[in-house]
Amino acid sequence: MKLTLTLAGAVLALSGPAFAGSAEDLIAAGKCSSCHTAATTKRGPSWASVAEKYKGDPGAQAKLVDLLKTGGPDDHKKVAASEADLKAIVAIVLSSK
Ligand code: HEC
Repeated sequence: MKLTLTLAGAVLALSGPAFAGSAEDLIAAGKCSSCHTAATTKRGPSWASVAEKYKGDPGAQAKLVDLLKTGGPDDHKKVAASEADLKAIVAIVLSSK
């Protein structure tokens, strides 16, 4: 599990400066990792399976930003972050494989 996160971090670090910094910090600070990992289903779906589910959906980013803001129909954990940070978090999620 630690290894998975370390690897995911390494992959993200390699994927470019756009994702470095605050969004990853928010994923850590938002405790997303207590329920999600990049590649395995924990309490919540893996980032990779979320990316798969929304593949080809042009509205995916807006939907997921909204989910994180409002909690959505399933009462997801709400994330107190700026619109820009939420978009960056969702971009990381949707670019996971
Ligand atoms: C307390 C556990 C928990 C925490 C903490 C948590 N999640 Fe989730 N998450 C879930 C569960 C359970 C689901 C599946 C049910 C649902 O969609 O609400 C989910 C679903 C999701 C989905 C997919 C929604 C969809 O439509 O398929 C995304 C994206 C997501 N979480 C992002 C995050 C992010 C980003 C964070 C941290 C800021 C986070 N989650 C923190 C439990 C959690």
